[in-house]
Amino acid sequence: MAESSRTMMVFLLCASAAMLAKGQSLDICASCHANATCDDKADGSGKVCNCKYGFVGNGRTFCQDKDECLIGAKRICGQHTTCHNTYGSYYCTCSSGYRPSNDMDVFIPNDGTHCQDIDECRVTGLCGDGALCRNLMGSFECSCQLGYIIHNGPEPFNPSINKAFCRVVDCGRPASLKNMIRLPFTGTTYGSVVTFECADGFVWRSGDNSSICAADGRWTEPTAVCEEILCGDPPTLPHTGQVWNGTSTPGSTVAYFCKRGFYHSEGSNISVCTANGDWTEADISCSEVDCGVPPVIPHSHMLWDNVSTMGSRVVYQCNSGYRNVGEGSVSVCTADGGWDEAFVRCQEINCQKPAFKPHAKMLWDGTSRLGSVVRYQCEEGYYTRGLRNSSVCRKTGQWEDVDIRCEAKCGPVPFLENSAVVWHNRSVAIHRCLDGYHSWRGSNVSLCGSSGVWEIASLKCIEIKPPINHLFVINEKCLRWTAEKYEEDTEVYKVTYAGSRDYQRSFRDKRKQFMRSKAEQLELCLNLLPVTNYSISITAVSARYTTTVNTSTSLPAPPAPIVYFREFQTPMPTLRLQRSLNTLDPISLFQVFVLPLEQSKVFDCSSPASLLSLSKSKPSTEYITAQIAVRRVGKELNFTVGDGLQYGGFFNVPLERSRNYYIILRTVSQWKQAVKSTCVLWAKVGGNSFGKIFAEEENVFLQ
Ligand SMILES: *[C@@H]1O[C@H](CO)[C@@H](O)[C@H](O)[C@H]1NC(C)=O
Ligand SMILES: *[C@@H]1O[C@H](CO)[C@@H](O)[C@H](O)[C@H]1NC(C)=O
Ligand SMILES: *[C@@H]1O[C@H](CO)[C@@H](O)[C@H](O)[C@H]1NC(C)=O
Ligand SMILES: *[C@@H]1O[C@H](CO)[C@@H](O)[C@H](O)[C@H]1NC(C)=O
Ligand SMILES: *[C@@H]1O[C@H](CO)[C@@H](O)[C@H](O)[C@H]1NC(C)=O
Repeated sequence: MAESSRTMMVFLLCASAAMLAKGQSLDICASCHANATCDDKADGSGKVCNCKYGFVGNGRTFCQDKDECLIGAKRICGQHTTCHNTYGSYYCTCSSGYRPSNDMDVFIPNDGTHCQDIDECRVTGLCGDGALCRNLMGSFECSCQLGYIIHNGPEPFNPSINKAFCRVVDCGRPASLKNMIRLPFTGTTYGSVVTFECADGFVWRSGDNSSICAADGRWTEPTAVCEEILCGDPPTLPHTGQVWNGTSTPGSTVAYFCKRGFYHSEGSNISVCTANGDWTEADISCSEVDCGVPPVIPHSHMLWDNVSTMGSRVVYQCNSGYRNVGEGSVSVCTADGGWDEAFVRCQEINCQKPAFKPHAKMLWDGTSRLGSVVRYQCEEGYYTRGLRNSSVCRKTGQWEDVDIRCEAKCGPVPFLENSAVVWHNRSVAIHRCLDGYHSWRGSNVSLCGSSGVWEIASLKCIEIKPPINHLFVINEKCLRWTAEKYEEDTEVYKVTYAGSRDYQRSFRDKRKQFMRSKAEQLELCLNLLPVTNYSISITAVSARYTTTVNTSTSLPAPPAPIVYFREFQTPMPTLRLQRSLNTLDPISLFQVFVLPLEQSKVFDCSSPASLLSLSKSKPSTEYITAQIAVRRVGKELNFTVGDGLQYGGFFNVPLERSRNYYIILRTVSQWKQAVKSTCVLWAKVGGNSFGKIFAEEENVFLQ
């Protein structure tokens, strides 16, 4: 910049020289700018206008102030300065905290003047009370000295910049301390001292008693140790106990009392803990208890060792002939110095009247003293039992137990029918039923009563009979019998029966039933099957008696099958029947009869004779055409008459076409000699004129 302005100056000078050359005649100096000087040219060839120092311009029309400060204060004025431009010039001042070396307010550095630091700390009190000042280049700072503390801002501070200041440290009121007393004090600020001393009841042992206000604003803790004054455990005194609450600080008390067996004879019984830590002396004196001579109890003597201190004992014993009716016999010397009450009471022994024994006389002198005697004797008619018939009056005031009974003499033992006496003595007889007799109920013992009469045994001897008696079968199926038992008893009968048949090996009919009854006569009907041999057993369950009876059932008429009666016009009719199964099937037959119509109308179904004579004797026209065992037939049978085959040894002859027939079905059951049969008309068979004939004829009669 300076370079360029110099160049410009050079240029201006040239210009003015040119103008000058044009107007030679001009008074140059008169035309100079007010802020220019008119100077001689260097070569002396005339005058020139030069702008004054501090101005730039052409010197005539234009001279302008040059701002030197624009170059920079540091360059123009030096370090720590401020540059001030003036019209045509400038001056320098020092920055705050510095001052010119020429001691003037302003300067121009051309004479070597410069700015140097001011030591503000030289001015005392600049930082305020309790603060330390520290000089800095161009400035200073404050901080608080020991015992002072900053307020209103941080440290370090500058009072001209902020409001911070130092204030003396104040510890406040010192705290009170345990077991110590605080003495009066003057200040509470830094360095102040407060003194303590040990409180009442405490004693100083070691350490410092004082507390100082420290720089941190706290009181230092006194190191003093104040120990409590204690008297310790109170001393023990002979024969005493203590009433003491366990505290041993000054003023504490202990009360002494005399132990059991001792009493307080003199002196004070209180001791106090003093400020010195000692118990005051208690001068209590305890003397031992003495109960003296024990009291006398009438009719008694004492067992005593002549000692009458507490706990001593005396035992009382009643004199002979007397006994103690009180409670206890011992008296003890108590802590109060008296014998406790012995409840001994000696009373003369009196056994009163001796006990009464029935049927016995007393041999007695009437006295009931200790040692008196009574003797018993049974009256006439009684004999003596027992081991002891005399008694002595004893110390307990009671007669000894006697063991005597006077028992009646009943005479000869009683007789009971059907019985014998097993064992007897004079008062007891035991009976037993003779063989073949028994007793249901009743005692078998007779006793001799106190009145001299036998109480006879209630035993009744009854002849022994089977519990099931007179058993027999009536009407083939019913049983009858008589029960032999004690009449109130209920008997349970178990009836089992088994049926068998000679003609049917596989047959077995085994059944069982129960019956309960009090009755004496009993009847029981059983559902027995026909043509069977039965063996029936009856057991009387409580009596454990079984008896058996056999019976055979008879043959009844066989049941007829259901046939479908029809009339046929064919000579080979097929007839039908239906039957139900029956246990008699093994001994039953179907016989088919052919009965020519012109024959007698009477057919005797039951006659086996007519049946047997059929084939041989008189050439009867009625005949058996077939015989079929029933057991071979199922539920149903279709049979064709006249088919020319053999059926059970009979030839099923073809029917004659021109004749009319009845077909009769006979069912026959047969076992040994017994034969029973049933007949039904099965069909009518007609020839050519059949219809006519039947219309005229009546039906066949079956007998
Ligand atoms: C000359 O300079 C002074 C101050 O130094 C100023 O006041 C004055 O106006 C100037 N004169 C002209 C004609 O510029
Ligand atoms: C502290 O105080 C006690 C009285 O309480 C005094 O006997 C003792 O000598 C003191 N100790 C010191 C170190 O001053
Ligand atoms: C007879 O015997 C009974 C039973 O043993 C017995 O209690 C009773 O005392 C006896 N009587 C006599 C007189 O011996
Ligand atoms: C029954 O027993 C008798 C005798 O033993 C015997 O002859 C008879 O054939 C038996 N009757 C039956 C149906 O078994
Ligand atoms: C008997 O005949 C009837 C009718 O003809 C028939 O239904 C039935 O099965 C026959 N029964 C037997 C056992 O042959």
